[in-house]
Amino acid sequence: MSETLHINEGSKNEKYKTLLQQIPALIGDEKDPIAIAANIVAALKQTFDFLWVGLYRVKGNELVLGPFQGPIACTRIAKGKGVCGMAWESKTTLVVPNVHEFEGHIACSSLSNSEIVVPVFADGEIVAVLDVDSIAFGTFDEVDAFYLKNIAAWFVPLD
Ligand code: SME
Repeated sequence: MSETLHINEGSKNEKYKTLLQQIPALIGDEKDPIAIAANIVAALKQTFDFLWVGLYRVKGNELVLGPFQGPIACTRIAKGKGVCGMAWESKTTLVVPNVHEFEGHIACSSLSNSEIVVPVFADGEIVAVLDVDSIAFGTFDEVDAFYLKNIAAWFVPLD
């Protein structure tokens, strides 16, 4: 059992490492932040086949839907609301193994069972959050948090 887990973790690590190595080539000479974000989000979705991968950008006192891949989603989330709004307010990465047990979770898709939200920082301020949803329970852990934070840095500058 532990060996199986170890092998799975290894492959997750390798997938993230390969993806991170590919990002500079994926961006190339492109300077438009939305075009860059759109392709990085697509690469994440393609690599892991997550249910939903996308950005919510900070606009005033709300998060507004940005580039994403997956089912249609709610367009605006208030500060402190849902996993996204709480990650923004608390300025921390939130790993949610079971979204049904997370008070205030906003269910954009009934297929989602676990979630991770990683703040995107620019000059110490949160400019967006990267949200990833999975149909499986307990998909995300500190490995995802580590690599998604690294990936999040590629979204900056965002406007
Ligand atoms: N579940 C999120 C809302 C966004 S969707 O998952 C795409 C939340 O609770 O903030």
